[in-house]
Amino acid sequence: MYDCLKGKVVIVTGGSQGIGWAIADAFHREGCIVYNFDIRKPENVHHDIIYMECDVSSESNVSSSIAKVVKRSGAINIVVNNAGIEKYNAAGEVSSKEWDEIIGVNLKGSFLMSKYAIPHLLRTKEGVILYTASVQSSMVQKRDAAYVTSKHALLGLARSVAIDYAPHIRSVALCPGTILTPLQLWCARQEVGNDPEKVDQKLSEWGRLSPMERQGRPEEVANVAVFMATSYASYVTGTCIYIDGGLSSFIPESAPDSEQA
Ligand SMILES: NC(=O)c1ccc[n+]([C@@H]2O[C@H](COP(=O)([O-])OP(=O)(O)OC[C@H]3O[C@@H](n4cnc5c(N)ncnc54)[C@H](O)[C@@H]3O)[C@@H](O)[C@H]2O)c1
Repeated sequence: MYDCLKGKVVIVTGGSQGIGWAIADAFHREGCIVYNFDIRKPENVHHDIIYMECDVSSESNVSSSIAKVVKRSGAINIVVNNAGIEKYNAAGEVSSKEWDEIIGVNLKGSFLMSKYAIPHLLRTKEGVILYTASVQSSMVQKRDAAYVTSKHALLGLARSVAIDYAPHIRSVALCPGTILTPLQLWCARQEVGNDPEKVDQKLSEWGRLSPMERQGRPEEVANVAVFMATSYASYVTGTCIYIDGGLSSFIPESAPDSEQA
């Protein structure tokens, strides 16, 4: 438990499932007042986490939801911009509609949340904004152009907020590798269809891409998010933290032994 988080008002976007749910739950366990902004109610209902229906790509939804939080709780201390969607296509195939949709949620949604939360975070003089970016903020999977672009751009937004609002707001991008969530299941099904055995095989294959040889769990991202929001991370801003089991550092090919070299 981190005493410094007790009573803090936290907004997590996309908190109804997956990584967002784990982050909302982790902040709640630290004694925070947690709001979940999502387009869908959670199936796994958490009675102490306050659900607000909010499409983060809609400016009016975001501005009114943030105003409601401030009216109800009096402040905003921490925002986790986590809502994200993914659809597979190369740049030559992606439709403008699909592009706008992905950029609209992943990037514009994070921008809108930042824009409307920043005045409130500044008032606290020690606000924190976290962005769930991705290993795909610096690496690129084939046929994922809009998603990759949105996640690369999120690093720019996270850094800009850090530079523009230091020392009163810290801003950090979290870069998960492959984490077992409903989104990952969807990605696996896009590749191998719905056969559960094939889906399991695909997920294990993705896990073995990292030196840890497994997928991450949502709570392993949540634990880092919580730490980043504490005073123990008080000098961390304008950067990104990889939570990827070593995936982004790994060349999955051993060097030849010295006799062969
Ligand atoms: N799972 C992974 O392996 C992985 C890896 C790297 C990054 N990420 C990122 O982590 C974040 C969470 O991913 P996840 O795997 O938990 O996904 P998920 O699909 O399981 O959950 C995403 C949540 O976002 C919500 N959401 C979607 N559109 C929204 C909108 N317009 N407004 C508000 N909420 C909306 C969904 O309803 C859902 O509850 C995403 O930004 C994703 O890109 C995930």
